[in-house]
Amino acid sequence: MSTRTTLITGIGSLVTNDLGHGTGPLGLLADAAVVVDGDTVAWVGPAAQAPAADERFDAGGRALLPGFVDSHAHLVFAGDRTAEFNARMSGQSYSAGGIRTTVAATRAASDAELDANVAGFVREALRQGTTTIECKSGYGLTVEDEARALRIAAKHTPETTYLGAHIVAPEYAEDPAGYVDLVTGEMLDACAPHARWVDVFCEKGAFDGDQARAVLAAGIERGLTPRVHANQLTYGPGVQLAVELGAASADHCTHLTDEDVAALAGSATVATLLPGAEFSTCAEYPSGRRLLDAGAVVALSTDCNPGSSFTSSMAFCIAVAVREMGMTPDEAVWSATAGGAHALRRSDVGSVAVGSRADLLLLDAPSHVHLAYRPGVPLTAAVWRAGVREV
Ligand code: NIG
Ligand code: FE
Repeated sequence: MSTRTTLITGIGSLVTNDLGHGTGPLGLLADAAVVVDGDTVAWVGPAAQAPAADERFDAGGRALLPGFVDSHAHLVFAGDRTAEFNARMSGQSYSAGGIRTTVAATRAASDAELDANVAGFVREALRQGTTTIECKSGYGLTVEDEARALRIAAKHTPETTYLGAHIVAPEYAEDPAGYVDLVTGEMLDACAPHARWVDVFCEKGAFDGDQARAVLAAGIERGLTPRVHANQLTYGPGVQLAVELGAASADHCTHLTDEDVAALAGSATVATLLPGAEFSTCAEYPSGRRLLDAGAVVALSTDCNPGSSFTSSMAFCIAVAVREMGMTPDEAVWSATAGGAHALRRSDVGSVAVGSRADLLLLDAPSHVHLAYRPGVPLTAAVWRAGVREV
């Protein structure tokens, strides 16, 4: 069956993330064109050599990138935590315990309300160029509330993550072992059919190394692939556990020993950095430079959630990574696109190459560098997701 083709031409600067094309790690091409056939990229090359297509879109010399791949977000929740943020900005410190506020609001919300919230955040992210977004449960913490969170998330993205082990549910405050039994038993049974990934918040105030190992092992047993909230607030066993269990990603990576960095560098586990969390919790940023110099694969994501990082802006994360985390604009843009794809073990997104999904972000700027150079400025000119113009 033939589909309609679109020629996007007049691209001043194209980020392909395809080493077969262009220059540098971003596979940059100047004066480029892309042909989209249905939901797929069918041709990439110099505009002067582009084939004819059914439709034509002139990029007017602006920059085209793969859509952002946000591999870490918590979108199924109700309410917000404005007061907690406000108090923090007056000197109070962040702790995992704040999650309980959102758990209460989320449990009280209707399915329709949660569904509308997720839809709204996915749309908000799309408007800013995010074409793939991961979404975790973790604000329900009962069998029914976790399962419904994942059922709702799965309506909006295939990248769904079971995070029943976000914190110990309030009902189990005196019996954390009982809660781990629930998370690895009945709750997992109810959630696994709706999830691709299993995650655990391995942290003081949440789950220790042994508990985290039990949660991840149970998920793996049920066919889920692990990813870990690791080493966010303190040094700890999360990163080593992630590497040992072959997790797709260790997320946060804020407090790393040299051994943690070496373990990540020597593994297929991506180090996903979430600068919105350090921004919003007034914490020290992780060093992207240290991880990159050691040879680790680095992804950048928003961690969009109402407590520690209430942003859906990948551009913001890029700007902070460049200014505060020792990453070059090229590295940060790679991490926000191809890096996120690695963290989700996706080869169809995060690049603009023949055969990849036609997820494209056109900037109102001549270069991807403007994402860091013009912080806070809305630079989205157009977004295509799976070949469909969405913005
Ligand atoms: O990734 N670290 C654990 N979970 C979230 C925070 C959630 C919250 O504070 O509500 C995070 O930062
Ligand atoms: Fe998170």
